[in-house]
Amino acid sequence: MNNWYYKKYIISLILLISTCTFAQRSPGDMDRFIDALMKKMTIEEKIGQLNLPVTGDITTGQAKSSDVAEKIRQGKVGGLFNLKGVGKIKEVQKLAVEESRLKIPLIFGMDVIHGYETIFPIPLGLSCTWNMEAIEKAARIAAIEASADGISWTFGPMLDICRDPRWGRASEGCGEDPFLGSEIAKAMVSGYQGKGLKSNNEIMACIKHFALYGASEAGRDYNTVDMSRIRMMNEYMPPYKAAVEAGAGSIMASFNEIDGVPATANKWLLTDLLRNQWGFNGFVVTDFTGIAEMVYHGIGDLKTVSARAINAGVDMDMVSAGFTETLRKSIDEGIITINTLDKACRRILEAKYKLGLFDNPYKYCDLKRPLKDIYTKEHRAEARKIASESFVLLKNENNLLPLKKQGNIAVVGPLAEAGENMVGTWSVAAVLDKTPSLVKGLRETLGDQAKVVYAKGSNLVSDTAYEKRATMFGRGLHRDNRTDKDMLEEALKVSANADVIVAALGESSEMSGESSCRTNLELPDVQRTLLTELLKTGKPIVLVLFSGRPVVLTWEQKNVPAILNVWFGGSESAYAIGDVLFGDANPSGKLTMTFPQNVGQIPLYYNHKNTGRPLGEGRWFEKFRSNYLDVSNDPLYPFGYGLSYTTFNYSNIAMSSKDLGMNEELTATVTVTNTGTRDGLEVVQLYIRDLVGSVTRPVKELKGFQKIFLKAGESKEVTFKITPELLKFYDYDLNYVCEPGDFNLMIGGNSCDVKNASFTLKM
Ligand code: NOJ
Repeated sequence: MNNWYYKKYIISLILLISTCTFAQRSPGDMDRFIDALMKKMTIEEKIGQLNLPVTGDITTGQAKSSDVAEKIRQGKVGGLFNLKGVGKIKEVQKLAVEESRLKIPLIFGMDVIHGYETIFPIPLGLSCTWNMEAIEKAARIAAIEASADGISWTFGPMLDICRDPRWGRASEGCGEDPFLGSEIAKAMVSGYQGKGLKSNNEIMACIKHFALYGASEAGRDYNTVDMSRIRMMNEYMPPYKAAVEAGAGSIMASFNEIDGVPATANKWLLTDLLRNQWGFNGFVVTDFTGIAEMVYHGIGDLKTVSARAINAGVDMDMVSAGFTETLRKSIDEGIITINTLDKACRRILEAKYKLGLFDNPYKYCDLKRPLKDIYTKEHRAEARKIASESFVLLKNENNLLPLKKQGNIAVVGPLAEAGENMVGTWSVAAVLDKTPSLVKGLRETLGDQAKVVYAKGSNLVSDTAYEKRATMFGRGLHRDNRTDKDMLEEALKVSANADVIVAALGESSEMSGESSCRTNLELPDVQRTLLTELLKTGKPIVLVLFSGRPVVLTWEQKNVPAILNVWFGGSESAYAIGDVLFGDANPSGKLTMTFPQNVGQIPLYYNHKNTGRPLGEGRWFEKFRSNYLDVSNDPLYPFGYGLSYTTFNYSNIAMSSKDLGMNEELTATVTVTNTGTRDGLEVVQLYIRDLVGSVTRPVKELKGFQKIFLKAGESKEVTFKITPELLKFYDYDLNYVCEPGDFNLMIGGNSCDVKNASFTLKM
């Protein structure tokens, strides 16, 4: 028997742990195990479990001799995060389970938010697939890869509803809609946690950022949030709640304040709502330095804010060291009770127990797994398929797309030869140099069938200081020291013999993501100039647009014949873009955030209220109506919008009944026909409007969707079930109710272009 198992055997006897496997254990077993363990713990060891420090010098490979290592030996660390490599992780785990007094295993976290080494599209892109099976699969693959490399906990899914594309972190979420967000929440939790964390390829999810982080004022990161309870409950909370109900094991408090109290110290949020109302039984972790930042929020010194955090319901302190440095003193002074500390400690131990780490602390440390489970051919094939489903075809004049695999194709733009950039924000574990650039991928796809020529054409932006900020981590983008004029001339020369120009333009990956907010969302200056000059050649031009958020494309919509928005598609982006450009895949992505005509319209979202002075439908300016003098209220591209290489026709809606009783259900059915010549996928969307309520209700709300495949010429009936439950909302007193009355029901291929019907909910 090796040393570890011998020790574990002895501990087991002393602690009277049952010898059956975790799968067969009941919560009673867990409680007994943790009760016994906690009886042995000192106050310092309990506080240690609540500590999630940075990996520090461990990242250099000096696991045994680092500062953190010493703390682990002393039992002052509960977990570590963003440490990559199963070998390294195993070494660190050994310190905890072989060299610390109580041998409590560590939990290893990482931001695995859209893949591990096989990278999927950024979450906003993933959401545009509207394909829950694919999203679950992406999360499952991410979990398989991460767990093969030692990770047992991911900081995802990110479920912050966002209606402000200035906010860079819109890229990490699933858009503006709470219904869709809730479906994605369930799919992701299930993908990460699998059948319940029993197997060594299932990892614990962490819902983030709780709560309302996507509503930061003016779209500026970390900024104040102020929102009525009724709005938050109806429009922002549903995805977090859905993830709680799906059994996510942990949740991360957000940086922002809510009702004047930072989320990290907000007892109403973390205890009354999350635990008491929603029944969450996992653990709460802060965001990075979330506790220490409350000193800057202005609610006290480190000791005060640490006590406020734990008293509000925080269990684990990410990086601030506020708990390790001050909790003991606060206990001695009676500011926090032992009971509060015990509760927090228990929740961390429970998470480790649920992960099976007490049974086998090396559960996620199989050194043979990385080779067979990470960045496999199968995973990459999935990522390629999902990426092609996430792209949104915004414009396709005269069916310019798909292109033929022939002739000369000029690929021009600062993002054409930037493979590393295409993986997108928060791809901590990505091996960047494995990602082929668009030029390389297209050349591989086309082989001898067509010639691909390339010119950079411009830098990302003209302002060097801005460019430096926008390419902070390099990621394949390096400033070209040639003049703008020289670069442009080269691009025009290279394009002169081309049959078609593919312009690879847009944002760099670091222009979205954390701390990457923007006030001007138009195509950066030099890129717009390049595009203008390319258009003057009169050649057909396809704009392949990279973006981590809705951008402003009013000029491009007017001037460029074809626009394909490819977000940041992950490690297989280049191949997936080729698949769509040349018609091997038919685009089916639909927007999950509204694209505005200009920044001044923001926040602009489809499920808005009617106001007391609504603008007549199809109208623009009317005096004394809720509108602008200089631009209509319409979006450039609405929520749910996206073109295909084929076309779909919707029949009128057939209702099974016009009345719905409180214990009944009715159905709404449309026949959708593929009227084009190609097979294609269509996202059929159901919207409902509650015409009269005790409180004002949105002009429409997504209440269902189905993604269907139709062969060319084929028709399918699509049926949605309507139940009173589907019509519920939070009323003025925050009761979750449905109110009798008339409803409009809409079905269509996007939120604007719909067929209409109506029904009445009866008492
Ligand atoms: C800060 C980010 O806000 C959060 O999303 C992330 O999980 C943590 N850092 C850990 O990297």
